[in-house]
Amino acid sequence: MIILFDSTYFLTRSQDLSQYLISIYRDIHKFPELSLEEKRTSSKVAEELKKFGLKVRERVGGYGVIGHLKGGKEKPIIALRADMDALPIEEETGLPFSSQNPGVMHACGHDVHTTILLGAARILSEIKEHLPGSAEFIFQPAEETSSGAKAMISEGILDEVDEIYGFHNLPTLETGKIAIKYGAMMGSVDKIEFSVTGRGGHGAIPDMSIDPIVASSAIISGIQSIISREISPFEPAVITIGSINGGSSYNIIPSEVRIEGTVRTLDSEIRRKIEERLKELIGGIASSYRCLAMINYINMIPPLVNWDNNVDYLKRAASEILGEENCIEAKPILTGEDFTLYLEKKPGCFFWLGSKPTDGKEVSGLHSPKYRIDESCIPLGTAILTKLAYTRIGNIST
Ligand code: NI
Repeated sequence: MIILFDSTYFLTRSQDLSQYLISIYRDIHKFPELSLEEKRTSSKVAEELKKFGLKVRERVGGYGVIGHLKGGKEKPIIALRADMDALPIEEETGLPFSSQNPGVMHACGHDVHTTILLGAARILSEIKEHLPGSAEFIFQPAEETSSGAKAMISEGILDEVDEIYGFHNLPTLETGKIAIKYGAMMGSVDKIEFSVTGRGGHGAIPDMSIDPIVASSAIISGIQSIISREISPFEPAVITIGSINGGSSYNIIPSEVRIEGTVRTLDSEIRRKIEERLKELIGGIASSYRCLAMINYINMIPPLVNWDNNVDYLKRAASEILGEENCIEAKPILTGEDFTLYLEKKPGCFFWLGSKPTDGKEVSGLHSPKYRIDESCIPLGTAILTKLAYTRIGNIST
């Protein structure tokens, strides 16, 4: 006999597991690992998944782990994804379970995400004989370097998946709330690298040289006009130059300057236009200063665009767990998230899970050495994901 489970069941069960979940979270927090080095974390994940009786695949696209939970039938398959990597930051939270790995910290809360997904795997595995389809738990490495999703997808992990859902904690959003929006929610991420070559010489005899530093400064100022003059003020877009390297002494004109930057937008057409105009302007300004520019433009990840129906499904599940008033409209942001690569292939959505601490101290954002969370967001996230996956497994007809 198939028993039906309601949102109260998932919330209560998640809260019953709080102690277990928080001990997992603190353990992962204590031993953070950088992108592509998630060895200990992934072993721990695999070990837990095996305890729950899931079929486990390890070393997928690096240290990626997949837990497959087969219910009554193989299909439909609803996938849930978490990331596992940490950042090269020295922790300054003073927490008793602070990082034991010097210079490495879970400052983006991927430890929270991994824990929540383990919680969802545990709860759904407990009721697997009542699931008409299957759930897939994707633990991704190397999100911070935007390389993990691509590596896992290239191993075919999405081939059989019907829908996919992901999330990120947000310490500026109250715990007990989620935020999501239809359509584009996070930015594309591109990288531009270019060199400006002139002719080096004495700083006091500029007429004998071709100065790439002056040309570079004109380029750096000039390209901002793409944003201010060529893109609609109603369309978000950013060009940031983050690195300039050239010259060795105050009195020498160098022969070359190397520059790197990033481009972010929410729209694929604007993204293409900025790439085209950057190449034209950099090349054109350089040549007008008698320099030569060599440009390498790297398309990393497209904008993150949620699928409308899946946003509805998520909102419905989250409303039942948190109350409708606590599911708010997200503002778009131009930071990137490689979850977008999954959404290019399969229907799904990505949401923000509130994790704001309630200890009264100043809130520190993601990637801050003082970043911390309210641990009660962990059972709430677990309840939302289990309710969502359970409902979708039961609702897709195959
Ligand atoms: Ni992150």
